[in-house]
Amino acid sequence: MEKFVINGGVPLKGEVEISGAKNAAVAILPATILAAGKCVVENLPAISDVDVSLHILQALGAQIRLLNRNTYEIDTTFMTGTEVPDDLSRQMRASYYFLGALLSRFGRAQVAMPGGCNLGPRPIDQHLKAFSALGAADSVDYGMISVRGKELTGAHVFFDKVSVGATINGMLSAVMAQGQTVLENCAKEPHVVDLANFLNMCGADVRGAGTDVIKVRGVQRMHGCTYSIIPDQIEAGSYMVAAAATGGDVLIKNVIPKHLEPITAKLVMAGAEVQELDDAVRVSRTGEIRPIKINTMPHPGFPTDMQPLMSVMLSVADGTSTVTEGIWDNRFRYVDELTKMGANIQVDGQVAVIEGVPELMPAPLRASDLRAGAALVVAALMANGTSEIDEISHIERGYERIVEKLEALGADIRRVERNPAALSQAL
Ligand code: UD1
Repeated sequence: MEKFVINGGVPLKGEVEISGAKNAAVAILPATILAAGKCVVENLPAISDVDVSLHILQALGAQIRLLNRNTYEIDTTFMTGTEVPDDLSRQMRASYYFLGALLSRFGRAQVAMPGGCNLGPRPIDQHLKAFSALGAADSVDYGMISVRGKELTGAHVFFDKVSVGATINGMLSAVMAQGQTVLENCAKEPHVVDLANFLNMCGADVRGAGTDVIKVRGVQRMHGCTYSIIPDQIEAGSYMVAAAATGGDVLIKNVIPKHLEPITAKLVMAGAEVQELDDAVRVSRTGEIRPIKINTMPHPGFPTDMQPLMSVMLSVADGTSTVTEGIWDNRFRYVDELTKMGANIQVDGQVAVIEGVPELMPAPLRASDLRAGAALVVAALMANGTSEIDEISHIERGYERIVEKLEALGADIRRVERNPAALSQAL
């Protein structure tokens, strides 16, 4: 029942510190199960997807201690649970990583069909393909997925589709299997590499993450470690777009510029200036936004999660842009909201044709998923006047302290709790 109220039209200026990567955190937290020991995980973003992952670990019997806002000690030594509570797993897509981790340690796991962003069909056949190649059996019953396999054995798995989730579950299930597993046609995203680094710190033998072939030599046991999660590529990209779209000048700190290259390249083509520093990028724009073409692809292509944000910026470009979505079937749901703001976007299947308009106008808006929600925040920051965004819980799944970070850049944004009494009177 909370919403953001944004008074837009102010160029963002100043510095922002990027948090740890959501998509790495939601893989590494289940992976602590494999350590069967104490892990100290640093640079965890304070977002609801991380809270849900920690609650699942606790429900399964892990002991969790908060060391500071972004660091937790997770002790999985005595945990025994193998069934993820439904209400928790349905809150987050990545709860399927508990399948791979629990299967690997206990030989069994049960997880409800995961929730998360509605971007069209989100099958998990490639995850199950990896489990089955290692010798596990699976069943789906009344929305619950169960996997079982006491003696997992290394195998050769060729993924039919490049999938981040299947690559990660493939690694999780193979680390303690007997012998070698070769995973082919793997996803190469930075968080795939981050998980492999974490697993290796815990005693696993994973090689090749970041290329399309990953080799995992099974080890008998693993142990705890201290690990710091990489910065969030998409959060950084979101602030980069926000800076460029509002004609601002922002230093985005605590990033790995290499991870941002596909985003940087498109922003520069669209007329922004991007300066790469050691662990920061500075993004500014003074001239017109130029129209460009974008095709989303697996890493190192342009990330699908940045697509809604870039489309928002291109809606005021000086000409016609085309954006082709190559990963998800249903990723243009934010376009109706942008149309309310005066944008001129025609969607035909997987392609959006964006005719630039001079400006966006403020409007009441509704976030339909995480990145669409972030895109609407940027749209509201661009529009002169007051916009309100509802259903911000989607946004808070993935952006730590977004209000504080934007306020520090000069944005006029407030998080407003709806007054339940006023609401009941209105009904
Ligand atoms: C992850 C990200 C998400 C991002 C996506 C693509 C996390 C928690 N989420 O999602 O933000 O948008 O990568 O970069 O890291 N597919 C199949 N069968 C499968 C698995 C996937 O056909 O078993 C298809 C999907 O429908 C989709 C494509 O493969 O079309 C890519 O999906 P995948 O990379 O698996 O996305 P997620 O891991 O769910």
